[in-house]
Amino acid sequence: MANIQSLRGMKDIIDNDSELFTYFIENCAKIVKRYGYNYIETPILEETSLFQRSVGESSDIVSKEMYNFTDKGNHEVCLRPEGTAGVVRWFVQNKKDKAGGQQKVFYHGPMFRYERPQKGRLREFHQFGCESFGESSVYEDATIILMISEILKFFKIGYKLQLNSLGDETCMPQYKEKLVEHLNTLSLCEDCNRRITTNPIRVLDCKNESCQEQLVGAPKITDNLSPECEADFTKLKEILDSNGVEYEVDTNLVRGLDYYTKTAFEFVSDNIGAQSAIAGGGRYDKLVEYLGGKTTPAVGFAIGIERLLELIVKNEIKEEILYIGAMSEEATDTVFCAVNKKRQTTKVITDYKVRGFSKHLNNAQKQGATLVALIGEDEMENGNIWVKNLETKEESKVSLEDF
Ligand code: HAM
Repeated sequence: MANIQSLRGMKDIIDNDSELFTYFIENCAKIVKRYGYNYIETPILEETSLFQRSVGESSDIVSKEMYNFTDKGNHEVCLRPEGTAGVVRWFVQNKKDKAGGQQKVFYHGPMFRYERPQKGRLREFHQFGCESFGESSVYEDATIILMISEILKFFKIGYKLQLNSLGDETCMPQYKEKLVEHLNTLSLCEDCNRRITTNPIRVLDCKNESCQEQLVGAPKITDNLSPECEADFTKLKEILDSNGVEYEVDTNLVRGLDYYTKTAFEFVSDNIGAQSAIAGGGRYDKLVEYLGGKTTPAVGFAIGIERLLELIVKNEIKEEILYIGAMSEEATDTVFCAVNKKRQTTKVITDYKVRGFSKHLNNAQKQGATLVALIGEDEMENGNIWVKNLETKEESKVSLEDF
C-alpha cells in the first residue's frame, strides 16, 4: 500500500521555514501592536454563506475555490478562504458596531482556496492580516499602507505598491453601466463575457493578452469617481507622497474580492515569479452592513506569509544555538544541569548520549549549532568546560561556575 502523502497544494512547515515563519509572525505582531492592533483568533471553519455574502458569489474564490461541505448536523460550512469575513462576523455578532468607537485587530493563520497549485500559489496558505473598524478618514488608509511598508522594510523586502480607488455606491453603479456599454463592443474571452453580467469590473484584470489589448480604451474608474471618493483618493496620494511612499496608480487593479469601496491596493514583488502579490487590501465601508450590522467604515490588509518568506534573507535570523554534550557517563548530571540553566536565556540543543570529542563536534555542526560546550572526565576534575565558537573557530576553557 502506498504511503499517505500530504494533499496537493498543502505543505508541512518545518526547520528553516518554520524558524522564518515564527520569526515573521513575532516581529509583525510587535509592529502592528504599536499601531494599536489586538490579536484575534477566529474559527477556521465558518458558515459558507458568510463568504458568499462578503467575498461575493461572482468572485472566483466563492464560485470555484471554496472547500465547502455539509457537516454532520446538515450545516453548509467551509474552510475560510480569507480572514476578513470571519473578523467582520465577530464584529457584528458581538455588537461592536453598536458600541461605536474604533476596533483594531490582527490575525494570522491558514486560509484555503482550491486553486491550481503552482510556485507561490498553494491550496492551504497562511496570511497575517489587520482590520481596522470605525475610522472613515483616509489617514487610516494611509496609516495601514505605512504600516505594511514598515513591515516590509523591517524584513528588508523591496516592493512596488499598486493603488486604485474603487469608488462607492454613489459612483460605482454608474461606472459599471458605462463600462458594460463599452465591453459589449469588444470581443472578449469566455470568462470576461461571463463577468460582464456577474461583475464587469473583474474584466479589467483579465490575464488574457487579447482582452488586455482591447481594454486599453475602456473607461477608467478613476475618471468616474464621485467628488467625495475623488477627494479621498487625491488626499491619500498626497499623504503617501509627503511620507516618501512610492506607488503607481493602476486603474485595472480591482482585487478578487467584491467587498472593497474606495481605496484598493496591492504590494507586489518582482522576485517571486508570476504570483507576485505579497499583500493586498483596502477599504470596505459596506461590509459590516452587508453582514447585518450597523454601517461601519473599515479598512484592512493581509500579507501572504509563504510568498513573503521567499523574500526574507535567511541569515537575517542567525541566532546563537548552544550545543552541550557529555564525554563521560559521570558528566551527564552536570550536562543536564548546565542545559537547564542555559535554556533560561539561550537556545540549547543536547542529547544524553556519551560521545567522544569529534563525534560531538560533528553532531553539533549537523544540528546548526553556533557554540559547542563539552564536559568530560578532565573537565569534571578541574571544574572547566571546553567551549568552541563554530563560526569564529575560537576555543576557550570556561569555569563551570561562570558557564
Ligand atoms: P487577497 O489579496 O486575496 O486578500 O490575499 C492576500 C494575500 O494572500 C495575497 O496578496 C497573497 O500574498 C496571499 N495569497 C492569496 N492566495 C494565495 C494562494 N493561493 N497561495 C499563496 N498565497 C496566497 C485577502 O485575502 C483580503 N482578506 C485582504 C484584506 C484584509 N482586505 C481587507 N482586509
